[in-house]
Amino acid sequence: VTVEYLDYEVLDDHGWSIGDEDLFERARRADLDPEAHGQFSVNPGETLLEAAEDSGFAWPFACRGGACTNCAVAIVDGEMPPPVGHILPEKLIRRGIRLSCLSAPITDDAKVVYNVKHMPDVEEFLL
Ligand code: FES
Repeated sequence: VTVEYLDYEVLDDHGWSIGDEDLFERARRADLDPEAHGQFSVNPGETLLEAAEDSGFAWPFACRGGACTNCAVAIVDGEMPPPVGHILPEKLIRRGIRLSCLSAPITDDAKVVYNVKHMPDVEEFLL
């Protein structure tokens, strides 16, 4: 599984939104640093968070067990199963929000925005 990732902070800085169709094209053109945008692969049995860490990235997390949403990502392309035993409300699941500490994409290619705990909808739920 190959994952192309993008930091939500970049969206915020550029005024881009998760729903923008050309979001990842823009990211590729913007010459962002490797922390903010790039690709890595996920090995079988790994969670998305572990795969990011194996690739040398420090993605946000706290509990690593589905209880805090610090590790939330938005899946923009591809599929990532909503994990069992988590605290995400249905509304966020429907919008593609997943927890990177609990699962990983199951499609060969996926695009995810990480760091979405700062996204207004997710934040609102956390408050
Ligand atoms: Fe807490 Fe994933 S790190 S839900």
